[in-house]
Amino acid sequence: MAKAKRQFRCKECEGISAKWMGKCPDCGAWNTLEEQVAEGATGARKVTPAAAVRLADVPMGSGGEVRVRTGIQELDNVLGGGLVAGSLVLIGGDPGVGKSTLLLAALDGFSRKGVPVMYASGEESLQQVRMRAERLGVQGDSLWLAAETDFGRIEAAVRAEQPRVAVIDSVQTVTSSEIGSVPGSVAQVREVAHRCMLLAKGTGVAILLVGHVTKTGELAGPKVLEHLVDTVLQFEGDPSSGLRVLRATKNRFGAVGELGMFEMTDGGLREVPDASARLLEERARGASGTAVTCAMEGSRALLAEVQALVGHPGPQIPARTCVGVDRSRVLMLCAVLQKAGLSMHDRDVFVNAAGGVRLVEPAADLGMLAAIASSRMDRTVPSDMALFGEVGLVGEVRATTHALPRLKEASRHGFSRVVAPARVAKDAPEGMNVVGVRSVREVLELLVDGN
Ligand code: TYD
Ligand code: MG
Repeated sequence: MAKAKRQFRCKECEGISAKWMGKCPDCGAWNTLEEQVAEGATGARKVTPAAAVRLADVPMGSGGEVRVRTGIQELDNVLGGGLVAGSLVLIGGDPGVGKSTLLLAALDGFSRKGVPVMYASGEESLQQVRMRAERLGVQGDSLWLAAETDFGRIEAAVRAEQPRVAVIDSVQTVTSSEIGSVPGSVAQVREVAHRCMLLAKGTGVAILLVGHVTKTGELAGPKVLEHLVDTVLQFEGDPSSGLRVLRATKNRFGAVGELGMFEMTDGGLREVPDASARLLEERARGASGTAVTCAMEGSRALLAEVQALVGHPGPQIPARTCVGVDRSRVLMLCAVLQKAGLSMHDRDVFVNAAGGVRLVEPAADLGMLAAIASSRMDRTVPSDMALFGEVGLVGEVRATTHALPRLKEASRHGFSRVVAPARVAKDAPEGMNVVGVRSVREVLELLVDGN
């Protein structure tokens, strides 16, 4: 077969050059030219028009997409109810977080139902995969393995064996011979993903593509692929606790923001269906600087602990360090507390969402504020109290969405008092002790009087 014609495209201005050059001749940027397979010169080619069909004439199919369930409830939920036939799913995450383990478990779920599946690994040998499978108790009757780094050969194997689901682990190690660049380069990663898309759409095989994310940059990682694939799942972990969180950041077949929770154990990944209970298990009681908030992750209410430490800085500028929470909101809350009479400008502030969750919605404000104020005043937040609500710039507490599921989750886990925006408290169901607050000052008074 004749080698496909190559060309070089500038990442900045999209300008095309026939040769690689250090400097883009179109926009003058340095080191921005990337290799790609040239599309045929449209001017010279006779163009057949795309087949346009009237919307009403397009057949609906049999009740929407065909889905296969993995049997791993947390994964199926995040996918929006199972894996859609012919879809391309990208699973991103740091190396070692457990992507291969999760996907092998998913393939096990399919294989047990007799669904033919294929696992192509460019990272591990057949023996290594077999040993891992053994440890995880994978039943491999309809699971086909290939240790291969050439995408063309993987594609041919998928076409020959016709599995319903194929895993390609990982996009960084598999290469397309059409492109001369090294494995893992942006051009390679993009080409492999593009060919996966064509393969999935052409054959109806659902393809799960693994992509490592580097801590520093996302170059050659999932970021350059997001627009190409149907679904992007991000697998994240808290190295200290073994907790793993899977979330959909893009999904053409379901809601984004859905969250699945797992725990890495010696016997593989274990599902954590009651995430609130797991997150609160190790909660420090009777200490200042911790508060429980009711967050929403996708459609699920989740109780999570926020921890804060407010300390005296050394001679350097006070630190504002945040893990799992939005730093700009913490800065805003510190400023609001300062105005409410607590001096914060001369203090170090550390805020952490325990258990590796990310509390980024404004409703987490009250929980963060209570944790910070509790540490600053050395007053404990009562252990039966949970808080949620958005804090505004003038110290007002504003209503948030999904009040009812948040209240129910708190009540289900035995929180007898929920501090919430006054508007929410008005409509609270009977029997629930909801303390409505209008301002940050009222929250601070509760902390002082609550013990
Ligand atoms: P892996 O799935 O290889 O990560 P990734 O594919 O995302 O790079 O998981 C690797 C880590 O998981 C490794 O540090 C060991 C741990 N692990 C367990 O703790 N228990 C297990 O049963 C397995 C298979 C892995
Ligand atoms: Mg792996």
